[in-house]
Amino acid sequence: MGDRNQGKLTTQVLSDHIAAAKIIQRGGVVAFPTETVFGLGADATNPTAVARIFSAKGRPGDNPLIVHIADAGQLPSVAMDITDSALALLDAFSPGPLTVVLPKHANICAEATGGLESVGVRIPKHPLAAAFLQATELPIAAPSANLSGRPSPTTWQAVVEDLEGRIDAVLRGEPTQIGLESTVVDCTTDSPTLLRTGAISLSQLQQVVPSTRASVDNGSRSGTEHLRRSPGTRHPHYQPTAEVDLVDRVSTVPSAAPDAAYIGFAPLPDGNWMWHEVFDSLEDFARGYYEALREADRRHARRIVVELARGDSPIVDALRDRQRRSAGHQP
Ligand code: TXA
Ligand code: MG
Repeated sequence: MGDRNQGKLTTQVLSDHIAAAKIIQRGGVVAFPTETVFGLGADATNPTAVARIFSAKGRPGDNPLIVHIADAGQLPSVAMDITDSALALLDAFSPGPLTVVLPKHANICAEATGGLESVGVRIPKHPLAAAFLQATELPIAAPSANLSGRPSPTTWQAVVEDLEGRIDAVLRGEPTQIGLESTVVDCTTDSPTLLRTGAISLSQLQQVVPSTRASVDNGSRSGTEHLRRSPGTRHPHYQPTAEVDLVDRVSTVPSAAPDAAYIGFAPLPDGNWMWHEVFDSLEDFARGYYEALREADRRHARRIVVELARGDSPIVDALRDRQRRSAGHQP
């Protein structure tokens, strides 16, 4: 190790999930792929290991982490008072892009949940994630594996771009399939409350538990109540360095400038864009959105014009939510 690296970690890129699991068991932090985005994992029962996640990301300590388990059999060791609605939602959507918030089991350290008495639990479907979690034999606290505030990583290279030298290892995998973070549902009360939209939409949740309600912007719940339940939503999220301008339809697109990038649906609006990415479907847009924001930054775009998602797909609300937040709008 040269002088320049003294006191710094070297981040290993691993293909072996068993080696990655061993690092976790020794109190290390390892990024791993899931079907939504890459996560940054550590032993959820170990306060020192969990503290390293927060410092690697520069994440505010009051923003709770999601605890990942390999299968539903581990649920009683991470959460308590598991409600019927939580069981119904898990049965319908797990393993998959769903996080249920439940009363926390004492096994999970207070640092992992930002001091909350509740814990978000997720069982990912991604085969490599499942094998890695299984091999650790531990519950794994994992936020998205980006520097706090930046777009979530959907490739292992994006993890390295943000966290090289700050984490022990990244478990290499293909680009993630969904590209947006899981749907988070508070199941600590009888009627579940949607805290963050994702690939599973509100109406899909309501098909399983009809009393599920939206907590954001529907007038039925105050902003303060939402913040108390989901402290993470108060912090800036998903933002590139370039300024993001949202446009509703192609006819309102401002004229292209040499320092502006464009991200939207095909076809590309007229003009001389410095760089562009156009998608054919909402699913492709969701899958590619964060990487497109990062690519515009790599090319030093000053401004990114983003076409707001519209159309008929369960993912549309989640994509619009992330687009708004990447432009700095509050939920
Ligand atoms: O798809 C995902 O959810 C990814 C992968 C790695 O699983 N993880 C992820 O984690 O997006 P993160 O930390 O970036 O976002 C977690 C969200 C935050 O908005 C946080 O506030 C909320 O979940 N959350 C976690 N635990 C909670 C709890 N006990 N109560 C309320 N909200 C919680
Ligand atoms: Mg995140």
